[in-house]
Amino acid sequence: MRVVIKDNEKQVAEYAYEIVRMALVDRQYKVLGLPTGSTPLLLYSELIAGLNRTEIDFSDISTFNLDEYLGLSADHPRSYRYFMETRLFEKINIKPSNIHFLNGLTDNVEAECAEYEDQIAALGGIKLQILGIGRDGHIGFNEPGSSLESRTHYVTLTKETIADNARFFDREKDVPRWALTMGVGTVMDAEQILLLATGENKAAAVAAMIEGPITQMCSASALQSHPDVTVVIDWAAASKLQHLEYWKQAADDYDEMYDFLTAARRHAGLEDSY
Ligand code: GLP
Repeated sequence: MRVVIKDNEKQVAEYAYEIVRMALVDRQYKVLGLPTGSTPLLLYSELIAGLNRTEIDFSDISTFNLDEYLGLSADHPRSYRYFMETRLFEKINIKPSNIHFLNGLTDNVEAECAEYEDQIAALGGIKLQILGIGRDGHIGFNEPGSSLESRTHYVTLTKETIADNARFFDREKDVPRWALTMGVGTVMDAEQILLLATGENKAAAVAAMIEGPITQMCSASALQSHPDVTVVIDWAAASKLQHLEYWKQAADDYDEMYDFLTAARRHAGLEDSY
């Protein structure tokens, strides 16, 4: 797990943009997993700006969103589908047929979830999965107690999650009590994972994710065992990390580590000297 700490939300988004750009351009990744929520909004603005600068292109990119409320139609203004359409999809050159979403009005929850897994597999799996984190450490809607092996499934939302997401609704009682979400296992299958978190109200969840035990009571902690995860956070979200200095130094040391390794390899005759 690589932890990158930035000064503010804007820098978090800019750094995250670079990771996405490298994934799309250098690694030629074609399948993205996307989150909703306030946290990725600045990154989505960066992606739109990157497209306008012709640095990136979405014409052959497919997306799978993490989750959707049960009971809301795709065009319901509070649905995650509507959120994504208005915040990102209608501003980029993605083909509508390449956008994949769980159907919140399905008449068969189990079949809908199984079909989503099949659609992901049919495209060769998610290459880059972008994530936010809930205050209780959930990713997607994998509330505390969700199995770390879980596949796409239906979930009963916790009171805390309903309260946190009430700001997007007129009244708290309008927030759906159930949702469909990719499972932790589904997320873990992605080749590369990028998690963003900003603000002090995420500090406890961030500390549990990075330094706590791997437990289904904090689904984000499963990411500790994924081989390619970058966590980009601001100082406020980092503020409850016990080893804050170490994480900061480890992130700063990354480039230096490569310089050191190149010099050592050259010394050992494994690379040409110049
Ligand atoms: C919801 C979403 C998550 C998101 C979380 C945090 O629970 N299902 O995917 O990460 O909210 O959202 P925000 O970024 O608004 O804090």
